[in-house]
Amino acid sequence: MRCVVVGSGAREHALAWGLARSAEVVVTPGNAGIAAHGVTCVDTPATQLDADLFVIGPELPLTQGLADELRAQGKQVLGPGRDGAQLEASKAFMKEFLADAGVPTAHFGVFSESEAALDFLVTMSPPYVIKTDGLAAGKGVLVTTDFDEACADVLDKLSGNAFGDAGTTIVIEEGLDGEECSLLVLCDGTRAVPLVPAQDFKRVGDGDTGANTGGMGAYAPMATMTASDVDRVMSSIVDPTLAELRRRDIDFRGVLYAGVMMTSRGPLLLEYNVRFGDPETEVLVPLYADALAPLLASVAHGRLGAVPPTTGESAVTVVLSAAGYPESPRRGDVITGLGDDGQLASPLEGVTVFHAGTIRDDQGRFLTHGGRVLAVTAVGPSLAVARARAYAASEQISFDGRVMRRDIALAAQEGAP
Ligand code: AMP
Ligand code: GLY
Repeated sequence: MRCVVVGSGAREHALAWGLARSAEVVVTPGNAGIAAHGVTCVDTPATQLDADLFVIGPELPLTQGLADELRAQGKQVLGPGRDGAQLEASKAFMKEFLADAGVPTAHFGVFSESEAALDFLVTMSPPYVIKTDGLAAGKGVLVTTDFDEACADVLDKLSGNAFGDAGTTIVIEEGLDGEECSLLVLCDGTRAVPLVPAQDFKRVGDGDTGANTGGMGAYAPMATMTASDVDRVMSSIVDPTLAELRRRDIDFRGVLYAGVMMTSRGPLLLEYNVRFGDPETEVLVPLYADALAPLLASVAHGRLGAVPPTTGESAVTVVLSAAGYPESPRRGDVITGLGDDGQLASPLEGVTVFHAGTIRDDQGRFLTHGGRVLAVTAVGPSLAVARARAYAASEQISFDGRVMRRDIALAAQEGAP
């Protein structure tokens, strides 16, 4: 089988690496780390490539209708069309969809006028949650207990200063409390089967402090989510969503990523993404080993069966970000600790380095070239072992101004039996 992966981040690196265990893989456009270990990277647009399976990584091409274009050419694609991608492209659309579907979510209001927005904000109690409507790479959400900061953020977003047009409509919603879970569900248009639950660490600083980011690390399977918790998310959130997709005649073939808060009121949906999560994919792919290519092909063909069991291991990924991330990441810092293939210069058991934002200079050195630079991933027989390996590997890699959380999966490890 020949697969094309669309995208250039650590998620696409992980997908390419996993698919390459049993398929021939081409990535467009890919990155310096992917190219270095056996997978071909090309600059050709996906619509000019041929393959048995196309896997579209990022949300932008999905919202622009790349899956529709490929399907019109008769290709098999993992990723929804433009209609299904609306679930991620607009939070206001998503919230209204959830209301129609009867999916439990935080109370909310949608605004494009500051006066009405501020009037609504006054009626809410802290923490205040303000979200840009459109795509903002995970950075368009403010959660704060400071009312003045919340007001300033409303005005900033509505003015278009903060996120341009993506931000001129906002959603203000009730702050929720609980454990957050990323449940990535494979959907073949009819059936939906979850992968094991993962947890992402969205804030830039230890102890969940600082700005929201694209994600600073992840682990799976998530220790506190039981099988019955997953069943509950499927029955109260995912099943009614599928029913609503069918009612609207949307053939959703891809990954429906449910960002869920496990609250005292039960699981509530924070957001849907219509693609693999980043960095969740970096911890999920290694757990499904050789099964990935046939599994994703079955989704694209509308023939999804049971998802095979994982290897039984745990996986942890630690994201190394560039100086200044997330506000103004710096490019061009020299990365040390990597060998010529972009993996650890001194390999460690169970460790794979997925590249997110790197580039090679004319001396062959890897340089920082994006906000998130590397996702240092390890598997192990227990969460503690996987975590120790991921941090030991991360310590081997350095560059000026490296931003790294030290507490990825720490609470789960301490709470684990
Ligand atoms: P979203 O893009 O909607 O998933 O929001 C990004 C992050 O902000 C989430 O992963 C949560 O950590 C946080 N967040 C979003 N909505 C809420 C909420 N209603 N209450 C508390 N935290 C939230
Ligand atoms: N990990 C968050 C995301 O992929 O949007």
